[in-house]
Amino acid sequence: MNDPTAPVGTGGCPTVTAVRGSLVWFGSDPFHTSSEQALEYVEDGLLVCQDGKITDAGPYDRLIGRLPTGTTVVHYRDKVILPGFVDLHVHYAQTRIIGAYGDQLLKWLNKHVYPEEVRFADPGYARRTAELFCDQILRNGTTTAMVNCATYPASVDALFEETTRRGMRVAAGKVLMDRNARSDLLDASPLQGYEESEALIRKWHGVGRSLYAITPRFALACTGEMLRLAGKLWDEHPGTLLQAHLAENAEEVEEVRSLFPEREDYVDVYEHFGLLGRGAVFAHAVHLGKREWGRLSATGSGVAHCPTSNLFLGSGLFPMRSATDRRHPVRTGLGTDVGAGTSLSLVQTANEAYKVGQLGVTPMDGTKLFYLATLGGASAMGLDGVVGSLAPGNEADFVVLDPSATQLLATRTATSETVDDLLFALAQLGDDRAVAATYVSGRLAHERNPCLDAKPDRKRQRRWTKSRDMGLRWLTYEESAGWSKDLEVPNAWSPYAPGVEAYKGRLYCLHQNTFHDESLWWDVYDKDTGAWRGDRALHDALGDPVPSHGPLAVSHANDYLYYVHHRTSSDTRLWWARYNIEGETGWSPDRVVKAADGREVRASGASLTVYDGLLYCVLRSAEGRLRWLTQDTGSKEWSTERDVPGGFTSSRPPVVERFKDQLYCVHDRGDDQLHWLTYDSASGNWSESRRIEDVDGNPVRTSYTPAITRYNDYLYCVFHQEDASGWGRLWWTRYDKGKGWSRPVRAGDAISSPGFDVSAYHGPLFCVHRG
Ligand code: GUN
Ligand code: ZN
Repeated sequence: MNDPTAPVGTGGCPTVTAVRGSLVWFGSDPFHTSSEQALEYVEDGLLVCQDGKITDAGPYDRLIGRLPTGTTVVHYRDKVILPGFVDLHVHYAQTRIIGAYGDQLLKWLNKHVYPEEVRFADPGYARRTAELFCDQILRNGTTTAMVNCATYPASVDALFEETTRRGMRVAAGKVLMDRNARSDLLDASPLQGYEESEALIRKWHGVGRSLYAITPRFALACTGEMLRLAGKLWDEHPGTLLQAHLAENAEEVEEVRSLFPEREDYVDVYEHFGLLGRGAVFAHAVHLGKREWGRLSATGSGVAHCPTSNLFLGSGLFPMRSATDRRHPVRTGLGTDVGAGTSLSLVQTANEAYKVGQLGVTPMDGTKLFYLATLGGASAMGLDGVVGSLAPGNEADFVVLDPSATQLLATRTATSETVDDLLFALAQLGDDRAVAATYVSGRLAHERNPCLDAKPDRKRQRRWTKSRDMGLRWLTYEESAGWSKDLEVPNAWSPYAPGVEAYKGRLYCLHQNTFHDESLWWDVYDKDTGAWRGDRALHDALGDPVPSHGPLAVSHANDYLYYVHHRTSSDTRLWWARYNIEGETGWSPDRVVKAADGREVRASGASLTVYDGLLYCVLRSAEGRLRWLTQDTGSKEWSTERDVPGGFTSSRPPVVERFKDQLYCVHDRGDDQLHWLTYDSASGNWSESRRIEDVDGNPVRTSYTPAITRYNDYLYCVFHQEDASGWGRLWWTRYDKGKGWSRPVRAGDAISSPGFDVSAYHGPLFCVHRG
């Protein structure tokens, strides 16, 4: 069997990646030392990762010089990087019944949970739900979870297939239950439950980062024989974990007492069958006596505090005071316990934990709350030193939190004078919107609105209303007349950058129309009518809408108009399609970009242009490296995907354009300054990446991905800057092969959100931007 905690390679050559931002983690348990002692904080920090592990964490200034040349540095300005959250107790098979009304535990199980879990006998249903669940926990910053599946082995296969595909460190197991529930959910016999669990251990434990958790549901649903076999199995498979529910609800405790009258208490039932120890996690633990806390403590068992669930089902208040009592401290973390829990966010769970703590007169500060959500949970699973910390040697799972994700958060955190207060405010006001990015094994696994990440000063408030923020607008530039007035593109709204390109006599603008849903729409401007013909959903060859998320890249190449994009926030694969106005089929089916070696191309942003007869795609890899590939538009075959030599990095998607026999690429290297490089197909060489400097030698600063296009005899670069008042404006500079880059000037008076594109079309230069 594999060592389940052995380092996980990235599959290719070793790569070093690094992220810059404020680093926060916990060096010890703040409940037993103090918050000041436990909190590790580096204000301007660098977190260095190699082969899925953290190799260094410390001040940026000290570490930057030690990085191998060409190492990617992704800069999360004004953001806080924490260890990925650990959800110590959750039921993925209950994702779809979250928030089901009315009853307390035992009735709620029969009415809502068991009928839903029966559906997980269907592998397709299980697979779809596993995918939804993983998407949702990653967008909430959770990278490790201890998961209950359903009784059916197929429900476990579906979850582990999804979590191993994403490289996540997840513990899960098939629920064991052989009484007190509908028969189609029960194990046919204790022995069959034991054998099925054993087969799943052999199949999954230690595969990738998967860990198997033996899962007797609770003493009420298990006979003594079932519990005995669970204990035997745990004993036979060292390294596996164990999870069960414990003393959640008063009625449940009474029933267990009558089912096991010979045992001293609930904990004694589990201890009798060998179910206590390091790596065993018990959910709820609301109604326990002193003796029981003592046994949990002495055996090194863990407990999951599930506040949203305990409140939702009216189960009771978790006694944090007992769990952290110095006489019998128990390893404690937080569980969402969805579907009884009402959120998959550990941030919201920490918020509720604070309130329950207040009722039990155990106030918890920001340090304690985030300790519970990270190292506390990891430690309860026996995974301290593996996950839950940014200390070197840990696996590189981390979350990037945005203290100004919402207007209220920004306003509140602007007054924070300590890190602890910043964390506390995040716990009270944050949710998935505060998660800017989630990394698994050093790779980007979720990014919230990639194009919006550039908001600069978190102390500044956003002033746009929602519709103004998203409505698309357009203006034009002509050398003789300058910039035109800024006008609305009728009925076009987009949360991300549109893609704009002239193609066969018309100007095309592709975007996502959020007033409907996140799918592709297109607007077409015709010089003859001088009007936009818009409001059209883009349909693929089968007539279906195309889901789409994040900035788009659009370019014509030979006879076609092409786009590349992402379909959802969590699918890092690039998808492409093309359109031929003369063809009869309209848009081709939306397909994954597959490189010549058969690998699916993954990216965090990409750009397209036609050059030397081929379609060129230059992209930012999940780790921030610049990579490229081409498509032969005749055969539709993609080339292999390669690094742009020199290891140039980019914290935002690059943009590309052919100009005067060369390919030009503009990007920024994490410093908010524009850089450029060129590629020459005749020599096959990429140039060095240089800083764009204007005629006076000044760098050109940007607060968002720029847009470039050739126009007349120049390469124009339009970029976005926020002025001191917080309004964003468009600026431009242009490149003259003889003279270099011009001094930047404002593009008219247009006020803009981040997200725009440019194209020359029939005389003027067109710019479409978010209002
Ligand atoms: N006890 C036994 N099964 C369950 C379950 O699915 N959810 C909760 N909250 N408690 C349980
Ligand atoms: Zn539960």
